[in-house]
Amino acid sequence: MKHAGVYLDYNATTPPDPALRSQLDFWWDSWGNPSSIHQFGRGPKKVLRESRRSIAKALNIHPLEIIFAGSGSEANNLAIQGLLQSLRKAGSARKTLMMSAIEHPSVRNTLQAMASEGYKVIEVPVDLSGKLDMNFYRAHLSEDVALVTAMIANNEVGVKLPLEAMVSLAHEKGAYFHADCVQALGKMEFDLPSLGVDMATMSSHKIYALKGAGLLYVKKGTPLEPIVHGGAQERGRRAGTENLLAIASLAFMVSRLGEENYEEKIRMLRDHMENEIQKNIEGTQMVAGGSVPRLTNTSCITIDGVDGEALMMNLDIRGFAVSTGAACSSGNPEPSPVLLAMGLTRAQAQSSLRVSLGRDTTMENVNAFVETLGAVVKHLRDIAKNDGEVLHGAV
Ligand SMILES: Cc1ncc(COP(=O)(O)O)c(C=O)c1O
Repeated sequence: MKHAGVYLDYNATTPPDPALRSQLDFWWDSWGNPSSIHQFGRGPKKVLRESRRSIAKALNIHPLEIIFAGSGSEANNLAIQGLLQSLRKAGSARKTLMMSAIEHPSVRNTLQAMASEGYKVIEVPVDLSGKLDMNFYRAHLSEDVALVTAMIANNEVGVKLPLEAMVSLAHEKGAYFHADCVQALGKMEFDLPSLGVDMATMSSHKIYALKGAGLLYVKKGTPLEPIVHGGAQERGRRAGTENLLAIASLAFMVSRLGEENYEEKIRMLRDHMENEIQKNIEGTQMVAGGSVPRLTNTSCITIDGVDGEALMMNLDIRGFAVSTGAACSSGNPEPSPVLLAMGLTRAQAQSSLRVSLGRDTTMENVNAFVETLGAVVKHLRDIAKNDGEVLHGAV
């Protein structure tokens, strides 16, 4: 049976909150360039200033510790490259960078790019349960480490990393710490000043705001050179006319965080879904489904003998939108580096499905999904049995 568009891919992006519409006319009228000093610049400048203030208040930070960028990916690039450029300029001899083995490509690939500029990159391993190897981390931290970068919560499997402990160990060695909070914002509570991180990244489109605004928190005193050169926007740290609609929508949503708590509802739906899948569909395993803390909305499921992409396409045909790995790497047939880093085999990684729930997900959605998943898995396994191979694509 075909179901009408059931969205179960909230880690890829979220639908904009309908309440944003009530603000659109006001923001629409502020179409001028916030940098203009004439009358048409005044309105947008005020929107920008108020957005910065309300985000700072909600996140318990100072407005001037916020840099707006175009996306989470850009903010991650700015944090890493901007800090390193600044340290080099100041004559720092530190040449080692550390990250967890399960970082998003916008962190992983930026560090790899830094490796070609002479930095040594150390990946801190994570085991099959999602637990970070703290002994390895401790043993490899040295006075040569310039920066440690790690996510609070992972986008593919949802595991949370022990950031507080990681940050204090990094600081003991004089290293800076950057946290990718893109998936954490709105899905779990955290307080930037108590975490103690020097920089943190967030992104508008993961919290029911419009696409096109990234946010980099830069703790006062943290050195940062711009990587986009040009005008003096963001106090000279990120040139480019600000995407006011996206920024204002981000502020609108951030200032409403915590007004309604969906975490428990989503956890209940997630647990129900995982139990039903394991009870009713043979050969299914939940990745990182054990005792390691994880986001309440994210399930990564491996399904023996079925190609994840074929599964995703067949579910799509029947109305269900899920993902086979990071959305950013869809279209890339290589298995997810995150799953491989956790110790899954290539075959297991290729047979995986990411289901991420959101605040509009209902019990009906979940039940219909589990039923359809069961039917699609059976269908694909039957065909594979007849043809003797795992099928790729929609069948
Ligand atoms: C953990 C994490 N970091 C960074 C990003 C990149 O954010 P953006 O899509 O705004 O570039 C994503 C997007 O999926 C993400 O999940």
